[in-house]
Amino acid sequence: MPHIEEIVRKAKEKAYQETDSEPDPSLTTAIQWPVTCEIGPGLEDAITCESKVGYVNGPKGWLIYCGLDTFDLSQKSSFEETAYLLLYGKLPTLKEFEDFKAKLSKYRALPSEIEPYLERLPIRENHAMTGLRTLVSILGMLDPDADDTSVEAQTEVVIKMIARFPTVVGAISRIRAGEKPLAPDPSQSLAADFIRMMTGKQPSPDDARVMDICLILHADHGINASTFASMVVNSSMSDMYSSLVAGIGSLKGPLHGGANEAVLHTLEEIGDPAKVDGWYEESRAKKRKVMGFGHRVYKAYDPRARVLHPLAELLSQRDPEIRKLYDIAEKLEKLVVGDLGAKKGVFPNVDFYSGIVYAAMGIDKAMFTPIFAVSRVTGWGARTIEYLKNNRIFRPQDVYVGPLRVEYVPIQERG
Ligand SMILES: CC(C)(COP(=O)(O)OP(=O)(O)OC[C@H]1O[C@@H](n2cnc3c(N)ncnc32)[C@H](O)[C@@H]1OP(=O)(O)O)[C@@H](O)C(=O)NCCC(=O)NCCS
Repeated sequence: MPHIEEIVRKAKEKAYQETDSEPDPSLTTAIQWPVTCEIGPGLEDAITCESKVGYVNGPKGWLIYCGLDTFDLSQKSSFEETAYLLLYGKLPTLKEFEDFKAKLSKYRALPSEIEPYLERLPIRENHAMTGLRTLVSILGMLDPDADDTSVEAQTEVVIKMIARFPTVVGAISRIRAGEKPLAPDPSQSLAADFIRMMTGKQPSPDDARVMDICLILHADHGINASTFASMVVNSSMSDMYSSLVAGIGSLKGPLHGGANEAVLHTLEEIGDPAKVDGWYEESRAKKRKVMGFGHRVYKAYDPRARVLHPLAELLSQRDPEIRKLYDIAEKLEKLVVGDLGAKKGVFPNVDFYSGIVYAAMGIDKAMFTPIFAVSRVTGWGARTIEYLKNNRIFRPQDVYVGPLRVEYVPIQERG
Protein backbone atom coordinates (compact mmCIF):
# COMPACT_ATOMS: atom_id res chain seq x y z
CA MET A 1 0.00 0.00 0.00
CA PRO A 2 1.46 3.42 -0.91
CA HIS A 3 2.41 5.48 2.09
CA ILE A 4 -0.14 8.20 2.84
CA GLU A 5 2.43 10.99 3.13
CA GLU A 6 3.78 10.00 -0.28
CA ILE A 7 0.29 10.16 -1.78
CA VAL A 8 -0.14 13.71 -0.45
CA ARG A 9 3.31 14.74 -1.69
CA LYS A 10 2.44 13.51 -5.18
CA ALA A 11 -0.91 15.30 -5.08
CA LYS A 12 0.92 18.57 -4.37
CA GLU A 13 3.44 17.93 -7.14
CA LYS A 14 0.67 17.23 -9.64
CA ALA A 15 -1.31 20.32 -8.57
CA TYR A 16 1.58 22.73 -9.00
CA GLN A 17 2.73 21.09 -12.22
CA GLU A 18 -0.73 21.39 -13.76
CA THR A 19 -1.27 25.00 -12.72
CA ASP A 20 2.36 25.84 -13.47
CA SER A 21 2.53 28.11 -10.41
CA GLU A 22 3.31 28.09 -6.70
CA PRO A 23 2.00 30.43 -3.99
CA ASP A 24 3.43 33.88 -4.61
CA PRO A 25 3.81 36.23 -1.59
CA SER A 26 3.54 39.33 -3.79
CA LEU A 27 -0.15 38.55 -4.44
CA THR A 28 -1.31 39.46 -0.92
CA THR A 29 -1.52 43.12 0.10
CA ALA A 30 -3.02 45.09 2.98
CA ILE A 31 -6.02 47.33 2.25
CA GLN A 32 -7.01 50.86 3.19
CA TRP A 33 -10.53 51.43 4.49
CA PRO A 34 -12.89 52.39 2.97
CA VAL A 35 -12.25 49.86 0.26
CA THR A 36 -13.75 49.83 -3.22
CA CYS A 37 -14.79 46.48 -4.62
CA GLU A 38 -17.35 45.13 -7.04
CA ILE A 39 -19.95 43.05 -5.23
CA GLY A 40 -22.14 40.38 -6.81
CA PRO A 41 -25.31 38.80 -5.40
CA GLY A 42 -24.65 36.70 -2.32
CA LEU A 43 -21.93 39.23 -1.34
CA GLU A 44 -19.71 37.72 -4.03
CA ASP A 45 -16.27 39.39 -3.89
CA ALA A 46 -17.25 41.66 -0.97
CA ILE A 47 -14.30 42.33 1.34
CA THR A 48 -15.22 41.88 5.00
CA CYS A 49 -11.91 42.30 6.83
CA GLU A 50 -8.17 41.76 6.73
CA SER A 51 -6.97 38.39 8.00
CA LYS A 52 -3.76 36.52 8.67
CA VAL A 53 -5.55 33.22 9.30
CA GLY A 54 -5.86 31.80 5.83
CA TYR A 55 -5.51 32.55 2.14
CA VAL A 56 -7.57 31.02 -0.65
CA ASN A 57 -6.62 31.73 -4.25
CA GLY A 58 -9.58 30.57 -6.32
CA PRO A 59 -8.19 30.95 -9.85
CA LYS A 60 -4.94 29.16 -8.93
CA GLY A 61 -6.33 26.59 -6.49
CA TRP A 62 -4.13 27.46 -3.49
CA LEU A 63 -5.07 27.09 0.16
CA ILE A 64 -2.69 28.48 2.77
CA TYR A 65 -3.07 28.59 6.58
CA CYS A 66 -0.98 31.34 8.27
CA GLY A 67 1.58 31.14 5.48
CA LEU A 68 1.80 27.33 5.40
CA ASP A 69 0.61 25.38 2.37
CA THR A 70 -2.20 22.96 3.26
CA PHE A 71 -0.55 20.34 1.04
CA ASP A 72 2.48 20.49 3.38
CA LEU A 73 0.34 20.52 6.52
CA SER A 74 -1.58 17.47 5.24
CA GLN A 75 1.67 15.67 4.56
CA LYS A 76 3.59 16.62 7.70
CA SER A 77 1.36 18.07 10.42
CA SER A 78 -1.52 16.89 12.61
CA PHE A 79 -4.97 18.38 13.22
CA GLU A 80 -3.93 19.40 16.74
CA GLU A 81 -0.87 21.27 15.44
CA THR A 82 -2.90 22.87 12.64
CA ALA A 83 -5.49 24.04 15.18
CA TYR A 84 -2.70 25.68 17.21
CA LEU A 85 -1.37 27.31 14.04
CA LEU A 86 -4.75 28.77 13.12
CA LEU A 87 -5.45 30.03 16.63
CA TYR A 88 -2.03 31.53 17.37
CA GLY A 89 -0.73 32.32 13.87
CA LYS A 90 2.47 30.25 14.11
CA LEU A 91 3.60 26.65 14.53
CA PRO A 92 4.10 25.77 18.22
CA THR A 93 7.40 25.00 19.90
CA LEU A 94 7.63 21.53 21.45
CA LYS A 95 6.70 22.93 24.87
CA GLU A 96 3.80 25.02 23.52
CA PHE A 97 2.48 22.00 21.65
CA GLU A 98 2.70 19.72 24.70
CA ASP A 99 0.79 22.31 26.76
CA PHE A 100 -1.81 22.75 24.02
CA LYS A 101 -2.34 19.00 23.67
CA ALA A 102 -2.59 18.63 27.46
CA LYS A 103 -5.33 21.25 27.45
CA LEU A 104 -7.19 19.52 24.62
CA SER A 105 -6.92 16.22 26.54
CA LYS A 106 -8.28 17.82 29.69
CA TYR A 107 -11.27 19.24 27.83
CA ARG A 108 -12.22 16.19 25.74
CA ALA A 109 -14.65 14.71 28.28
CA LEU A 110 -18.10 16.30 28.39
CA PRO A 111 -19.44 17.70 31.68
CA SER A 112 -21.60 15.08 33.42
CA GLU A 113 -24.56 17.52 33.45
CA ILE A 114 -24.98 16.91 29.70
CA GLU A 115 -25.90 13.23 30.22
CA PRO A 116 -29.65 13.70 30.82
CA TYR A 117 -29.83 15.70 27.59
CA LEU A 118 -28.04 12.97 25.65
CA GLU A 119 -30.59 10.50 27.03
CA ARG A 120 -33.76 12.60 26.55
CA LEU A 121 -33.29 14.79 23.48
CA PRO A 122 -34.78 13.34 20.25
CA ILE A 123 -31.29 12.90 18.74
CA ARG A 124 -32.19 9.81 16.69
CA GLU A 125 -35.21 11.51 15.16
CA ASN A 126 -33.36 14.63 14.01
CA HIS A 127 -30.62 15.61 11.58
CA ALA A 128 -27.23 14.99 13.21
CA MET A 129 -26.35 18.69 12.74
CA THR A 130 -29.50 19.65 14.64
CA GLY A 131 -28.30 17.47 17.52
CA LEU A 132 -24.86 19.09 17.38
CA ARG A 133 -26.34 22.60 17.28
CA THR A 134 -28.54 21.89 20.32
CA LEU A 135 -25.83 20.16 22.36
CA VAL A 136 -23.28 22.91 21.74
CA SER A 137 -25.86 25.42 22.90
CA ILE A 138 -26.41 23.36 26.08
CA LEU A 139 -22.63 23.14 26.63
CA GLY A 140 -22.68 26.95 26.55
CA MET A 141 -25.37 27.00 29.26
CA LEU A 142 -23.23 24.68 31.39
CA ASP A 143 -20.09 26.81 31.01
CA PRO A 144 -19.82 29.49 33.74
CA ASP A 145 -17.34 31.45 31.58
CA ALA A 146 -19.56 31.50 28.46
CA ASP A 147 -20.47 35.18 28.71
CA ASP A 148 -16.92 36.44 29.25
CA THR A 149 -16.27 38.10 25.88
CA SER A 150 -12.57 38.83 26.45
CA VAL A 151 -10.20 37.45 23.81
CA GLU A 152 -8.60 35.16 26.43
CA ALA A 153 -11.91 33.66 27.60
CA GLN A 154 -13.23 33.21 24.06
CA THR A 155 -9.99 31.54 22.97
CA GLU A 156 -10.38 29.14 25.88
CA VAL A 157 -13.95 28.33 24.76
CA VAL A 158 -12.70 27.62 21.23
CA ILE A 159 -10.01 25.24 22.53
CA LYS A 160 -12.65 23.55 24.69
CA MET A 161 -14.89 23.14 21.65
CA ILE A 162 -12.09 21.84 19.40
CA ALA A 163 -11.59 19.18 22.08
CA ARG A 164 -15.29 18.49 22.69
CA PHE A 165 -16.88 18.56 19.22
CA PRO A 166 -15.48 15.05 18.47
CA THR A 167 -16.93 13.73 21.74
CA VAL A 168 -20.33 15.31 21.05
CA VAL A 169 -20.42 14.11 17.42
CA GLY A 170 -19.24 10.66 18.57
CA ALA A 171 -22.11 10.57 21.08
CA ILE A 172 -24.64 11.62 18.40
CA SER A 173 -23.37 8.87 16.09
CA ARG A 174 -23.64 6.21 18.81
CA ILE A 175 -27.10 7.33 19.95
CA ARG A 176 -28.33 7.30 16.34
CA ALA A 177 -27.07 3.71 16.09
CA GLY A 178 -28.93 2.79 19.30
CA GLU A 179 -25.69 2.50 21.32
CA LYS A 180 -24.37 4.24 24.41
CA PRO A 181 -21.90 7.13 23.90
CA LEU A 182 -18.24 6.32 24.52
CA ALA A 183 -15.97 8.33 26.79
CA PRO A 184 -12.94 9.92 25.09
CA ASP A 185 -9.51 8.34 25.37
CA PRO A 186 -7.04 11.25 25.59
CA SER A 187 -4.07 8.91 25.03
CA GLN A 188 -5.10 8.75 21.34
CA SER A 189 -4.88 11.44 18.68
CA LEU A 190 -8.04 13.47 18.29
CA ALA A 191 -8.65 11.96 14.83
CA ALA A 192 -8.22 8.32 15.90
CA ASP A 193 -10.35 8.77 18.99
CA PHE A 194 -13.01 10.59 16.99
CA ILE A 195 -13.44 7.60 14.64
CA ARG A 196 -13.55 5.24 17.64
CA MET A 197 -16.21 7.32 19.40
CA MET A 198 -18.32 7.41 16.21
CA THR A 199 -18.05 3.80 15.07
CA GLY A 200 -17.29 1.99 18.35
CA LYS A 201 -14.25 0.40 16.66
CA GLN A 202 -10.57 1.21 17.05
CA PRO A 203 -9.48 2.56 13.62
CA SER A 204 -6.45 1.29 11.73
CA PRO A 205 -3.43 3.65 11.72
CA ASP A 206 -4.17 4.43 8.04
CA ASP A 207 -7.76 5.41 8.78
CA ALA A 208 -6.66 7.55 11.70
CA ARG A 209 -4.07 9.33 9.55
CA VAL A 210 -6.52 9.92 6.71
CA MET A 211 -9.08 11.34 9.17
CA ASP A 212 -6.33 13.57 10.56
CA ILE A 213 -5.71 14.88 7.01
CA CYS A 214 -9.45 15.41 6.46
CA LEU A 215 -9.62 17.46 9.65
CA ILE A 216 -6.59 19.52 8.57
CA LEU A 217 -8.09 20.20 5.14
CA HIS A 218 -11.51 21.29 6.42
CA ALA A 219 -10.24 23.53 9.24
CA ASP A 220 -10.43 26.92 7.56
CA HIS A 221 -11.53 28.37 4.26
CA GLY A 222 -11.83 32.13 4.07
CA ILE A 223 -15.10 33.93 4.64
CA ASN A 224 -17.35 31.02 3.74
CA ALA A 225 -21.03 31.17 4.80
CA SER A 226 -20.62 29.44 8.19
CA THR A 227 -17.47 31.37 9.14
CA PHE A 228 -19.16 34.62 8.19
CA ALA A 229 -22.24 33.61 10.22
CA SER A 230 -20.02 32.99 13.29
CA MET A 231 -18.23 36.31 12.80
CA VAL A 232 -21.45 38.27 12.34
CA VAL A 233 -22.90 36.88 15.57
CA ASN A 234 -19.77 37.61 17.59
CA SER A 235 -19.42 41.11 16.15
CA SER A 236 -22.32 42.20 18.37
CA MET A 237 -20.17 41.10 21.37
CA SER A 238 -22.59 38.20 21.93
CA ASP A 239 -20.64 35.09 23.02
CA MET A 240 -18.56 32.34 21.42
CA TYR A 241 -21.15 29.57 21.91
CA SER A 242 -23.76 31.62 20.05
CA SER A 243 -21.22 32.18 17.26
CA LEU A 244 -20.41 28.48 16.96
CA VAL A 245 -24.09 27.56 16.98
CA ALA A 246 -24.61 30.00 14.08
CA GLY A 247 -21.72 28.35 12.24
CA ILE A 248 -23.25 24.90 12.72
CA GLY A 249 -26.61 26.14 11.46
CA SER A 250 -25.07 27.56 8.31
CA LEU A 251 -22.81 24.57 7.62
CA LYS A 252 -25.80 22.20 7.73
CA GLY A 253 -27.17 23.35 4.35
CA PRO A 254 -26.61 21.29 1.17
CA LEU A 255 -24.99 24.25 -0.62
CA HIS A 256 -22.28 24.30 2.07
CA GLY A 257 -21.20 21.46 4.41
CA GLY A 258 -24.26 19.33 3.69
CA ALA A 259 -22.94 18.63 0.19
CA ASN A 260 -20.70 15.74 1.33
CA GLU A 261 -23.71 13.72 2.45
CA ALA A 262 -25.62 14.71 -0.69
CA VAL A 263 -22.70 13.46 -2.85
CA LEU A 264 -22.96 9.99 -1.40
CA HIS A 265 -26.72 9.97 -2.02
CA THR A 266 -25.96 10.92 -5.65
CA LEU A 267 -23.36 8.17 -6.10
CA GLU A 268 -25.72 5.60 -4.57
CA GLU A 269 -28.61 6.86 -6.72
CA ILE A 270 -26.49 6.38 -9.87
CA GLY A 271 -25.61 2.93 -8.55
CA ASP A 272 -23.40 1.72 -11.39
CA PRO A 273 -20.52 3.20 -13.41
CA ALA A 274 -22.41 2.21 -16.58
CA LYS A 275 -25.28 4.52 -15.61
CA VAL A 276 -23.23 7.68 -15.08
CA ASP A 277 -23.65 9.05 -18.63
CA GLY A 278 -27.43 8.69 -18.59
CA TRP A 279 -27.71 10.16 -15.10
CA TYR A 280 -25.59 13.18 -16.00
CA GLU A 281 -27.49 13.80 -19.25
CA GLU A 282 -30.78 13.81 -17.35
CA SER A 283 -29.32 15.99 -14.63
CA ARG A 284 -28.13 18.57 -17.18
CA ALA A 285 -31.51 18.47 -18.95
CA LYS A 286 -33.23 19.23 -15.64
CA LYS A 287 -30.61 21.94 -14.88
CA ARG A 288 -29.78 20.26 -11.58
CA LYS A 289 -26.51 21.08 -9.87
CA VAL A 290 -24.24 18.10 -9.31
CA MET A 291 -23.38 17.93 -5.63
CA GLY A 292 -19.67 18.12 -4.82
CA PHE A 293 -18.89 20.33 -7.83
CA GLY A 294 -18.45 24.06 -8.19
CA HIS A 295 -17.36 26.71 -5.76
CA ARG A 296 -17.90 30.42 -5.21
CA VAL A 297 -14.15 31.02 -4.97
CA TYR A 298 -12.38 28.13 -6.73
CA LYS A 299 -12.62 28.28 -10.47
CA ALA A 300 -9.79 25.70 -10.63
CA TYR A 301 -9.45 22.25 -9.09
CA ASP A 302 -10.00 22.54 -5.30
CA PRO A 303 -6.63 21.64 -3.69
CA ARG A 304 -8.47 19.75 -0.93
CA ALA A 305 -10.11 17.53 -3.54
CA ARG A 306 -6.68 16.92 -5.05
CA VAL A 307 -5.61 15.32 -1.76
CA LEU A 308 -8.88 13.56 -1.00
CA HIS A 309 -9.21 12.02 -4.47
CA PRO A 310 -6.20 9.66 -4.18
CA LEU A 311 -7.00 8.99 -0.51
CA ALA A 312 -10.52 7.93 -1.50
CA GLU A 313 -8.95 5.65 -4.11
CA LEU A 314 -6.64 4.16 -1.49
CA LEU A 315 -9.36 3.43 1.06
CA SER A 316 -11.89 2.24 -1.51
CA GLN A 317 -9.66 -0.71 -2.41
CA ARG A 318 -10.74 -2.67 0.65
CA ASP A 319 -14.47 -2.98 -0.12
CA PRO A 320 -16.05 -3.70 -3.54
CA GLU A 321 -19.15 -1.61 -2.72
CA ILE A 322 -17.03 1.43 -1.86
CA ARG A 323 -14.85 0.76 -4.91
CA LYS A 324 -17.99 0.91 -7.05
CA LEU A 325 -18.87 4.32 -5.56
CA TYR A 326 -15.33 5.50 -6.26
CA ASP A 327 -15.53 4.30 -9.89
CA ILE A 328 -18.85 6.13 -10.32
CA ALA A 329 -17.30 9.27 -8.81
CA GLU A 330 -14.28 9.18 -11.11
CA LYS A 331 -16.47 8.77 -14.17
CA LEU A 332 -18.77 11.57 -13.03
CA GLU A 333 -15.79 13.85 -12.44
CA LYS A 334 -14.55 13.27 -16.01
CA LEU A 335 -17.98 14.11 -17.43
CA VAL A 336 -18.59 17.23 -15.32
CA VAL A 337 -15.07 18.63 -15.74
CA GLY A 338 -15.12 17.86 -19.48
CA ASP A 339 -18.44 19.68 -19.79
CA LEU A 340 -18.13 22.56 -17.30
CA GLY A 341 -14.47 22.78 -16.26
CA ALA A 342 -13.13 25.17 -18.87
CA LYS A 343 -16.54 26.69 -19.64
CA LYS A 344 -17.72 27.57 -16.11
CA GLY A 345 -14.79 26.80 -13.83
CA VAL A 346 -16.72 23.91 -12.26
CA PHE A 347 -14.42 21.27 -10.73
CA PRO A 348 -14.77 18.81 -7.83
CA ASN A 349 -14.78 20.56 -4.47
CA VAL A 350 -13.77 19.29 -1.02
CA ASP A 351 -17.06 17.44 -0.59
CA PHE A 352 -16.82 15.28 -3.68
CA TYR A 353 -14.37 12.67 -2.41
CA SER A 354 -14.63 13.13 1.37
CA GLY A 355 -17.86 11.10 1.57
CA ILE A 356 -16.20 8.08 -0.05
CA VAL A 357 -13.33 8.36 2.46
CA TYR A 358 -15.72 8.42 5.43
CA ALA A 359 -17.90 5.63 4.01
CA ALA A 360 -14.77 3.47 3.62
CA MET A 361 -14.10 4.03 7.33
CA GLY A 362 -17.55 2.62 8.12
CA ILE A 363 -19.04 5.98 9.13
CA ASP A 364 -22.74 6.60 8.57
CA LYS A 365 -23.48 9.30 5.95
CA ALA A 366 -25.58 11.26 8.42
CA MET A 367 -22.32 12.02 10.26
CA PHE A 368 -20.44 13.47 7.28
CA THR A 369 -21.44 17.10 7.82
CA PRO A 370 -20.80 16.92 11.60
CA ILE A 371 -17.27 15.67 10.76
CA PHE A 372 -16.84 18.87 8.74
CA ALA A 373 -17.99 20.85 11.82
CA VAL A 374 -15.49 19.03 14.07
CA SER A 375 -12.75 20.50 11.91
CA ARG A 376 -14.27 23.86 10.90
CA VAL A 377 -14.90 24.89 14.52
CA THR A 378 -11.19 25.78 14.39
CA GLY A 379 -11.63 28.27 11.54
CA TRP A 380 -14.84 29.69 13.03
CA GLY A 381 -13.01 30.27 16.31
CA ALA A 382 -9.73 31.54 14.85
CA ARG A 383 -11.36 34.07 12.55
CA THR A 384 -13.97 35.19 15.07
CA ILE A 385 -11.26 35.88 17.64
CA GLU A 386 -9.04 37.62 15.09
CA TYR A 387 -11.95 39.89 14.17
CA LEU A 388 -12.81 40.48 17.83
CA LYS A 389 -9.38 42.03 18.38
CA ASN A 390 -10.41 44.86 16.06
CA ASN A 391 -14.14 44.46 16.30
CA ARG A 392 -16.72 46.52 14.47
CA ILE A 393 -20.30 45.25 14.32
CA PHE A 394 -21.28 43.93 10.86
CA ARG A 395 -24.02 46.02 9.35
CA PRO A 396 -24.28 45.91 5.55
CA GLN A 397 -26.99 47.66 3.55
CA ASP A 398 -29.81 46.56 1.34
CA VAL A 399 -31.39 48.51 -1.48
CA TYR A 400 -35.06 49.04 -0.86
CA VAL A 401 -37.08 48.37 -4.00
CA GLY A 402 -40.57 48.18 -2.48
CA PRO A 403 -43.27 50.86 -2.65
CA LEU A 404 -43.31 54.09 -0.64
CA ARG A 405 -46.29 56.19 0.55
CA VAL A 406 -48.75 53.28 0.75
CA GLU A 407 -51.88 54.53 2.46
CA TYR A 408 -52.94 52.76 5.68
CA VAL A 409 -56.41 51.26 5.10
CA PRO A 410 -58.34 50.09 8.22
CA ILE A 411 -58.72 46.28 8.28
CA GLN A 412 -62.53 46.41 7.88
CA GLU A 413 -62.16 48.36 4.65
CA ARG A 414 -59.62 46.09 2.97
CA GLY A 415 -60.92 44.01 0.03
C1 LIG B 1 -20.92 25.84 -4.30
C2 LIG B 1 -22.01 26.62 -5.03
C3 LIG B 1 -23.17 26.88 -4.05
C4 LIG B 1 -21.43 27.96 -5.51
O1 LIG B 1 -22.48 28.70 -5.98
P1 LIG B 1 -22.28 30.09 -6.77
O2 LIG B 1 -20.98 30.70 -6.47
O3 LIG B 1 -23.51 30.88 -6.48
O4 LIG B 1 -22.17 29.62 -8.28
P2 LIG B 1 -23.36 29.58 -9.33
O5 LIG B 1 -24.47 28.76 -8.77
O6 LIG B 1 -23.69 30.99 -9.72
O7 LIG B 1 -22.67 28.81 -10.53
C5 LIG B 1 -22.01 29.43 -11.63
C6 LIG B 1 -22.30 28.63 -12.88
O8 LIG B 1 -21.73 27.31 -12.75
C7 LIG B 1 -22.75 26.31 -12.76
N1 LIG B 1 -22.53 25.38 -11.66
C8 LIG B 1 -22.00 25.69 -10.44
N2 LIG B 1 -21.99 24.61 -9.67
C9 LIG B 1 -22.49 23.60 -10.41
C10 LIG B 1 -22.73 22.23 -10.12
N3 LIG B 1 -22.45 21.73 -8.94
N4 LIG B 1 -23.28 21.48 -11.08
C11 LIG B 1 -23.58 22.02 -12.29
N5 LIG B 1 -23.37 23.31 -12.61
C12 LIG B 1 -22.84 24.08 -11.67
C13 LIG B 1 -24.06 27.05 -12.50
O9 LIG B 1 -25.17 26.39 -13.05
C14 LIG B 1 -23.81 28.39 -13.12
O10 LIG B 1 -24.01 28.27 -14.50
P3 LIG B 1 -24.78 29.45 -15.34
O11 LIG B 1 -23.75 30.53 -15.42
O12 LIG B 1 -25.08 28.80 -16.65
O13 LIG B 1 -25.98 29.84 -14.55
C15 LIG B 1 -22.50 25.85 -6.27
O14 LIG B 1 -21.40 25.56 -7.12
C16 LIG B 1 -23.25 24.59 -5.89
O15 LIG B 1 -24.45 24.63 -5.59
N6 LIG B 1 -22.55 23.39 -5.88
C17 LIG B 1 -23.15 22.16 -5.46
C18 LIG B 1 -23.18 22.09 -3.94
C19 LIG B 1 -21.81 21.85 -3.34
O16 LIG B 1 -21.08 20.97 -3.75
N7 LIG B 1 -21.51 22.64 -2.31
C20 LIG B 1 -20.27 22.50 -1.57
C21 LIG B 1 -19.36 23.67 -1.76
S1 LIG B 1 -17.79 23.39 -1.01
